[in-house]
Amino acid sequence: MKNVLVTGGCGFIGSNFVRLLLDTTAVQVVILDKMTYAARKENLQDCWENPRLSLVVGDIGNQELVRHLVQSHNIDLIVNFAAETHVDQSILGPLVFTDTNVRGTQVLLEVAREFGLRFHHISTDEVYGHIPEGHQSIESDPLEPRSPYSASKAAADQLVQAYFITYDLPITITRGANNVGPYQFPEKVIPLFTTNALQDQPLPVYGDGLQMRDYAHVYDHCTGILKVLEKGQIGEVYNVGTGLEMTNLEMTQIVLDTLGKPQTLIRHVTDRPGHDRRYSMNVDKLRALGWEPRYQPKEAVAETVRWYRDNDWWWLPIRQGSFQAYYQKQYGERLKESQQA
Ligand code: DAU
Repeated sequence: MKNVLVTGGCGFIGSNFVRLLLDTTAVQVVILDKMTYAARKENLQDCWENPRLSLVVGDIGNQELVRHLVQSHNIDLIVNFAAETHVDQSILGPLVFTDTNVRGTQVLLEVAREFGLRFHHISTDEVYGHIPEGHQSIESDPLEPRSPYSASKAAADQLVQAYFITYDLPITITRGANNVGPYQFPEKVIPLFTTNALQDQPLPVYGDGLQMRDYAHVYDHCTGILKVLEKGQIGEVYNVGTGLEMTNLEMTQIVLDTLGKPQTLIRHVTDRPGHDRRYSMNVDKLRALGWEPRYQPKEAVAETVRWYRDNDWWWLPIRQGSFQAYYQKQYGERLKESQQA
């Protein structure tokens, strides 16, 4: 790995990964990013001076552009973070999820096939669907996605695996748990609840709030991806998470306690349609490569909450912009009908 094309490198996980690459390797990094609402140049404000980093604004679905970038930068590895990622947005408007997550991934695969590139794909634990208590997903489990978002991610995973089987393309896939950390767009639950609490606004907990999630720090996700790039076996899938979980109400309590805010901010609102009750992954396969997470979920959540508390320069302009229209659509009615905890 010398010249890496990182798609979606201005998004949350992508930008954290780019920073890790610049800090810990000698590679040249080219970001291809469409700069949708969830991508921000500020996520890498401390990195743009680095001569090993460049940004091209464009769509992964533009095959000519991707071919041109691969040739002109002598790319030998594509890491695909580019995706529409928010489940609630996929319920409101699903088609763009198929365009970017499925067709976009396949365009990248086509270019990788043409030039014989290594291809690493970023996937999610949501492809396994809802996981009953007592079970942890392993990489060979069947894919049973239940939302338009997770269905598009599962389709992409299967295309990536098909290119390995059919064309012998050197691929790897990582499936990440719920990530938390700096620069996550405030549509996702922890930045949403934190920034709401900081503004003394209600925290809209879907349903009973007893859904289980593995809140893993984005830093650990990124070191896991790097480990797979360095030591992973070609053609294989690796889960990346902590293997630990908590309920959304426990997570909400950490947000409130970290900020010293009252429980009266909690509102139980109408649930997300098709809401997966529990995700949980076994991460032994990645551990066997010599990777260990630095953070437990509780510390990951608390540290993230403190980051948002200390960095309102980053999120205040977002919350003042077009985000307000989304917030109204997603939460307006829900909050009107809601009950205090
Ligand atoms: O599990 C990995 C996935 O984690 C990623 O693939 C997705 O891209 C990412 O969005 C995330 O999906 P979730 O749907 O689990 O994350 P979200 O932050 O939207 O919600 C986390 C939990 O919090 C979930 O059980 C729904 C609940 N929630 C979420 C929001 C936005 C609420 O109770 N209220 C809310 O307002």
